[in-house]
Amino acid sequence: MTRRRRIAINTGGGDAPGLNAVVHAATLAAVGRGWEVVGIRHGYRGLFEPDGLMKLDRDAVGGITHLGGTILGTANRADPFKYPTVPPEGGPAVPTDRSRDMIARLHQEGIEGIVAIGGDGSMRLACDLFERGLPPVVGVPKTIDNDVLGTDITFGFDTAVTIATEALDRLHTTAEAHERVMVVEVMGRHAGWIATMSGLAGGADAILIPELPFRLEPVAEKIKQREAWGRPFSIVVVAEGAIAVGGQETVRLQGDRFRSMPVLGGIGERVAAGLATLTGKEVRSLVLGHLQRGGGPTSADRVLALRFGAAAVAELAAILGDPSPTATADPSMRCGMVGAIGGVIQLVPLSIPVSGIRKVPTTRGVVLSARAIGISFGDEPDGHFAS
Ligand code: F6P
Repeated sequence: MTRRRRIAINTGGGDAPGLNAVVHAATLAAVGRGWEVVGIRHGYRGLFEPDGLMKLDRDAVGGITHLGGTILGTANRADPFKYPTVPPEGGPAVPTDRSRDMIARLHQEGIEGIVAIGGDGSMRLACDLFERGLPPVVGVPKTIDNDVLGTDITFGFDTAVTIATEALDRLHTTAEAHERVMVVEVMGRHAGWIATMSGLAGGADAILIPELPFRLEPVAEKIKQREAWGRPFSIVVVAEGAIAVGGQETVRLQGDRFRSMPVLGGIGERVAAGLATLTGKEVRSLVLGHLQRGGGPTSADRVLALRFGAAAVAELAAILGDPSPTATADPSMRCGMVGAIGGVIQLVPLSIPVSGIRKVPTTRGVVLSARAIGISFGDEPDGHFAS
């Protein structure tokens, strides 16, 4: 009897609404091909733990598409090249290269292919592990930040924008009632996608993003212009990675034992303090934080995630040499990432997402539309918003 193909699915990095929908679709697509599927718990951490693999079948993935989080768990500190390991002599865990142990476990488990759901960091990791002997891998681009190269959109983004937009709608009524300026800090890391899209949808008066270093003077001028027009309240959306001209990103927390990367945050409060001084108005700030990542995905994110999951299995099948009429994989490709390009899901080489991050274009598209309706990006010359 021929052995059934066996693949693994994992979710790595920060969670994003839609992870469970990808797991659902990838599992059902694989089971439909007669394959066995296992989920690796907590990124790659499950490969170092005796109970770290879970069987995924129709029952295990039933009814999870609408749920936030991930049934597999995720981790920011499960990089097998720097895996926190307690030395044999005891003492605190030290980062250790355990990539060979991890890959060996996959081979022992008979895993022939991997669907790796993650952001640019996870794609980089998959690429490095593949060089060391990881079975063929197909990445699925996940992040609320929408900053992965090789796809026009990531799942999780639409949900984050929807949540931020709803928050802006709510803040409008209280800002207007008190004639205040509300400064809202949103996530996005080094890209301003969430800020730009939610700011436009939610009627912000100024949007500050990492792609356009800002000065507060034009923003204050915009607020005063509105006041002169009889609108004595304003909403300012600030991306957590926004940078003042000549300044740097605001870091709330350097990496710790839970997270290798610095955590951004605090720019909203600074902007609020500066605007209070420049306008003389009452200004309040708030940070939307992880509310943008929690809860279930929007229908748009569910559809995208389900399409990505199904496509990842079709591409993996083609890479493994199985018939797969819908796959786009070039026969020479042994790994890649599914991306949505112009509405078509296709396999792109992993070298694309690992080459950088996708920023908001500032000379076309949505930024120009926002400018055309008078939204400030904090980069206008003095006098631009003089009423
Ligand atoms: O990448 C997603 C993201 O939510 C970023 O927008 C944010 O900077 C970061 O993760 C926060 O990470 P953590 O959940 O580890 O605080």
